Amino acid sequence: MAERSGSTGRVGIAFVGAGLVAELHARAVGACGRARFVGAYDADPGRAKALTARHGGHGFRSLKELLGDAAVDAVHVLTPPEGHVATALAALRAGKHVLVEKPVAHRAADVRRLMRAAERAGRTCMPGHNYLYVPALRRAKALIDAGRLGPIAAFWMLYNLFHDADLVRKYGSIIRVVCVHHCYSLLYLLGRPERLSCMAVPGVHAPGVPDAAQTAITCLMQDGAIANLWASFASADPTNDPWLVQYKVLGTRGGVSYSWNDAVYQDDEGPAFGMPGYVDAFVYEVAWFVEQCVLGGKQPLSTLADALDALRMVEAAERSAAHGRTVTLRWE
Ligand SMILES: NC(=O)c1ccc[n+]([C@@H]2O[C@H](COP(=O)([O-])OP(=O)(O)OC[C@H]3O[C@@H](n4cnc5c(N)ncnc54)[C@H](O)[C@@H]3O)[C@@H](O)[C@H]2O)c1
Repeated sequence: MAERSGSTGRVGIAFVGAGLVAELHARAVGACGRARFVGAYDADPGRAKALTARHGGHGFRSLKELLGDAAVDAVHVLTPPEGHVATALAALRAGKHVLVEKPVAHRAADVRRLMRAAERAGRTCMPGHNYLYVPALRRAKALIDAGRLGPIAAFWMLYNLFHDADLVRKYGSIIRVVCVHHCYSLLYLLGRPERLSCMAVPGVHAPGVPDAAQTAITCLMQDGAIANLWASFASADPTNDPWLVQYKVLGTRGGVSYSWNDAVYQDDEGPAFGMPGYVDAFVYEVAWFVEQCVLGGKQPLSTLADALDALRMVEAAERSAAHGRTVTLRWE
């Protein structure tokens, strides 16, 4: 799909939402040679001002002003999840490409609305499934798909990142906001599970906060593999073999592992900001969005259809945790 990238020859990008994750998106846009940061709109104008003071561009006074700006080719939707769908729909209707943070939507019907709107507009609407875009995971998928690991027996994805009580409260359910990463990762690497069971508990570190802050999901895959998805806000891992964010895939003839432990430094701006494995995922994600999707007309690595499947898994995990039983997933 050829793009109108304005007089600069670069894809003009604006953000709706200028909070925590916007900082990582702004760094990633700055690192992408084919993109230009135009500015941001935030319901709290001070936040857009602070972000644009750091990264250039300017604050917009309203969503309407942002969507009416011809210099904006693409919009990153970076508000809390409740605001994603309305903003993404408005952006698509205005002819903009959209990158929408995870979880794309809380209801399947809303993901389908986005699929139809993107199709009608002839624009990309890419879920912010950032973890997948690092080269190590793309290589893992290529090895799995080529059969180099043999039949896959087991998958682990572990996430142990301390989030204080305020952050636990801000994000609400760990299943919805974090395990969605596990779900789209599993779908990308191994496909759809047949059954799953889930346990979810509040964090031991955040007394009085009722939201789930620690969860374990076990999935039986259609070919008999078992996938183990673990997420916790209760602790980081300070041991000599840290399981911060870690992937492992084992087949009968080989295996792949990938971890964010390879480089860690002190950065207090946000959880995991001091882990290049995390920060770089945004750089690769934004480069894919701009170069492959907006300019190249190609598909994201993980599409809205995958976001729909990930939401089905999340809902199944919630049902399993609530009723203490294994849930069978019925795929169309
Ligand atoms: N992919 C990742 O690794 C990752 C990491 C963190 C957050 N996220 C996702 O990013 C999104 C934002 O999270 P965050 O931590 O940056 O939240 P945040 O609260 O720090 O920032 C959200 C911002 O959106 C603004 N906002 C709210 N409603 C708005 C609206 N209707 N129009 C314009 N601005 C609005 C708020 O004022 C706030 O500044 C969430 O969906 C979250 O799940 C993704």
